[in-house]
Amino acid sequence: MSTDIRAKFLDFFKSKGHQVYESMPLVPDDASLLFTNAGMVQFKDIFTGKIPAPNTKRATSAQLCIRAGGKHNDLENVGYTARHHTLFEMLGNFSFGDYFKEEAIAYAWEFITQVLGFSKDVLYVSVHENDLEAFTIWTQYIDASRIKKMGDKDNFWQMGDTGACGPCSEIFVDQGEKYFHSQEDYFGGDGDRFLEIWNLVFMQYERNSDGILTPLPKPSIDTGMGLERIQALLEGKHSNFDSSIFMPLIEEVSILTGKKYTYEGGASFRVIADHGRAVAFLLAQGVNFDKEGRGYVLRRILRRALRHGYLLGLNKPFLYQIVQKVCDQMGGHYHYLSQKKQTIMEQCKMEEARFFETIESGMEMFKKELDSLPKNTKFSGEVAFKLYDTYGFPLDLTQDMLRDKKTDIDIEQFQTCMLQQKQRAKASWKGSGDEIKNGDFSKLLQKFGENQFNGYEYSFATAKILALLDSSYQEINTLDEEGFVFFDTTPLYPESGGAIGDEGELYLKGKKIADVLDTKKYFGLNISRIRPFQKIHIGDIVDILVSPKRIETAKHHSATHLLHAALRKILGPHIAQAGSLVEPSRLRFDFSHPSALSTQELINIQEEVNRIILKNIETKTELLPVEEAKTKGAMALFGEKYGEIVRVVSFDEESCEFCGGIHVQNTGNIGSFYILKESGVSSGVRRIEAVCGKSGYEYGKNALQTIEEAKTILKNQDICSGIHKLKDQIKEFKDKISKSHQTSDLHVFEEIKGIKLIVQKLESGNIKEIIDNAKNTYDKIAILLILCENQKISLACGVKNAPINAGEWVKKTAQILDGGGGGREDFATAGGKNISKLADALEFAKKFLKQKLEENI
Ligand code: ALA
Repeated sequence: MSTDIRAKFLDFFKSKGHQVYESMPLVPDDASLLFTNAGMVQFKDIFTGKIPAPNTKRATSAQLCIRAGGKHNDLENVGYTARHHTLFEMLGNFSFGDYFKEEAIAYAWEFITQVLGFSKDVLYVSVHENDLEAFTIWTQYIDASRIKKMGDKDNFWQMGDTGACGPCSEIFVDQGEKYFHSQEDYFGGDGDRFLEIWNLVFMQYERNSDGILTPLPKPSIDTGMGLERIQALLEGKHSNFDSSIFMPLIEEVSILTGKKYTYEGGASFRVIADHGRAVAFLLAQGVNFDKEGRGYVLRRILRRALRHGYLLGLNKPFLYQIVQKVCDQMGGHYHYLSQKKQTIMEQCKMEEARFFETIESGMEMFKKELDSLPKNTKFSGEVAFKLYDTYGFPLDLTQDMLRDKKTDIDIEQFQTCMLQQKQRAKASWKGSGDEIKNGDFSKLLQKFGENQFNGYEYSFATAKILALLDSSYQEINTLDEEGFVFFDTTPLYPESGGAIGDEGELYLKGKKIADVLDTKKYFGLNISRIRPFQKIHIGDIVDILVSPKRIETAKHHSATHLLHAALRKILGPHIAQAGSLVEPSRLRFDFSHPSALSTQELINIQEEVNRIILKNIETKTELLPVEEAKTKGAMALFGEKYGEIVRVVSFDEESCEFCGGIHVQNTGNIGSFYILKESGVSSGVRRIEAVCGKSGYEYGKNALQTIEEAKTILKNQDICSGIHKLKDQIKEFKDKISKSHQTSDLHVFEEIKGIKLIVQKLESGNIKEIIDNAKNTYDKIAILLILCENQKISLACGVKNAPINAGEWVKKTAQILDGGGGGREDFATAGGKNISKLADALEFAKKFLKQKLEENI
C-alpha cells in the first residue's frame, strides 16, 4: 500500500507538469551534510542558482532520508515516540523559481482532500508569524481559527547550517480526542493528537557560513511529506509503527525473541524494526561500518538496535534477519536491496558478532557504575568514555541506557577524556598542511565561471592565464615561486574519479617556464599547481604540454573498468566500487565483498581482465542523457552526483560505466595486467592492487629475471623441485645437527667390553629423545639420564646390547629420590621427588650398572 501512496503522489505532481526524479543516494555530494535529510537535498544547488533548473522548473520525488546525526537528528527519539524514524521516505514537490505560495498551497490542498480523501474537518495549518501572505492564501481553504501563527523554531526551515532556507507552513491532521488525552494534545502542543503531515517551505533565502541570509535569485518551493505517517493515518493507526510498513518487522522481532509485542512495553521492538531499515539501506548504498563519520553513525544505529535486542534476551546476531525482511519487503521498489541482500546480511552479521563479543562486559561495567552511583550524581564521564573506547558503546547508546534512570552522563568529563585521547593520537600524526581556503577559489568562480577542459582531444594546447594564486591561495598578478594557475582552457586533467591529476610543462614562446606539479578541481574550476622558472603574468599566452605519464595513468584507468567488470562477472553483481586510485604506475580498487578472495578467484579475475585486453576492443566514449545511459546499463557510482548529460565509457559489451576520465583508445594498449595483492580494508570491503602497461611489463620482467637468477643458483634444475629438494636437505641437516648436539652433550664415563656407560644429570632437553639418539649412535650402550627442570625430576634409561634391565635400573635409582617408575628391558622411565639426593642417586646408578655388568658378563 505504501507503494500506492508513493505512486499516487508522483502521478499527481506529474500531471501538474513536474518532472519525476529518483531518490538520490543517502550519502550526499556535500561534506557539510551527514546524510540526505530531505527531498530538497538533490536540488539544493538549483535553488541557490549554482546549477540551472530543468526545463520543467518543477520536480517531484519520493526521497529516502536519514535523520540520525547532524542538524536534523531524531535518533534518540526513535522507538519512544509514534512518529520518529532514522530512515523514512519523504514525498515532495519542488518549484525552481516557477510557482510560489499560491499554487503550492492549492496543490497540497487538492492532493490531501481529493486524492487522499482527508476531510476538511480534521485539517489544521500553521504559518510563520510574519508570513501574512501565506495566512491569507490559506483562508481561501480553511477557517482562520484553524490557522496558527508560529515563530522561527517551528516555521522556518533549513537543510543544514548553510544553504537554501525559508519560512514554512505545515499541515496537520487531528486524530481525534478519543485516543489522545495528554495535556499537550491541543493544536500547537507537543502531543501526538495533531499530527504534522506536510511541510511546505517557501524557499526565499540562502544562509552562508557566517549565518547571513541573502535572498535567492528566485523564490522557490520545497515540500516534504513523510510517507510512513500518511500510510499510518490512512490505515487508521495512531502510530507509524502500527502501520503495515513496520508491523511485519516488529512481528519478526517477536518471532526471534519469542516475546509478545505490546505498544506500551514495546520500545525495543520498535527500535529494532526502525534501525533494521536504516542498516539495510545504508549498507546497500555502500556505507560501511567505520570508526568515524557516516560509517560510525551506521555502527551506532546497529549497536543501539543490538542493545535493545539484548534487553529482549538476544545474545547473538539477529539484526541481519530484520535486514533480510526489509530487503524482501522493499526490494520490489528499491531493486538494489534484492540484489545485495546476501552480501549486506553477511556484513551486518559480522558486525553484530563483533559487538556481541563485548556487550556483556560493557553492560556489567555499566551496571556496576550505576549501582554504586549515589543519588543525584551524574553518571561518570570517564566510565562512559571507557564504555565507548573499550567496549564500543557509543555515547548515545549509554545515554539511551540511562533514559529511564533519571540521571545524565557527565558530558564534560566524557569530552575531556575524548580530547585527551585525540591529543595523544595527534601527537603522532602529521597533517598534510594542505588546507584549502575555500573563499579564494569561489571568488574566481564568480569572476570567470568554470574553465573549459580540452584534454580529451589534446595533450598539448595553447591557453591564456586568467588568474594566479600564491601558495596561500591569494590572488596575485605575477608568480615566481610555487603557486596555482587558472587557464581559460586547459588540457590538464584534474584529479577525479580516483585518477590522479595531470603533471606537465608550460612554455612561453618556445621556452620552458614552469613545471606543472598537479591539477585539481576546486569548486568546478580546473586549477594546476606549478613551479615557475621565471616570472609568470596574468594574461600570458602559454603552451601547455601534458606529461606523458598521463598515458600510463589512462592504461590503469581503463584497466580499473575492466577489473570492475571482471569482479562482477566472477564474484557476482553485488560488487560495488567503494574507492579507487589510479596512478601511472599502479591501480587500487576497493569494492564491497564479504570475504577474502581465494587464489583461484584471483587467477580467474586476472585471466578475465587479460582476455578483454587481448580482444583489442576500441574504447567508445559517448555523451548521453542520464536516463538513456542508465537504460544502456552503464554502471554509476552510488553517491556520485551526475548532471543531465553524462559521459559514458564502454568497451563493447564487456564494460560500460559513467566516467569523465581519460582512457586508452583500445584495450590492447593496456598491455598485460597483473594482480599484486588482495587485502581487506574494513568490514565487507576488499582491495585489489594491480599493475598494467609499462609497470605491468616491468613486473613481468622482474619476475622472469628472478626466476632466471634462481635457475642459475639452482644450476638450471626445475625451480620448484629444486626448492623442494633444498628444503628437504635443510630439514635433514637441521635434524642431524640437533641430534649431534644432543649426543655431544653426553659423557661416556667408562667403557666395558665395548659397552658405553653413561650416567648423567641434565638441566634441559628431551631425555627420551636423547636416549633414542644415543642408542642410534652407539652399538652397545647403557644410559641413564636424570633431568632436573623447574624443581621436577624425571629419569629415563636405555639399554642396547648390554646385560642390564633398564626397568629395574631406573626403578632402583628413582627410589633413592623418593620416586618410582619402570618400563621395558631396553627402555624405561621414572620420576623422583627429593632433589637433595641427586648426587646419591647418580652415584648409585653408576654403581648398580657396573655391578650388574660384572655379574652378567
Ligand atoms: N525540506 C522540508 C522538510 O524537510 C520540506 O521538512
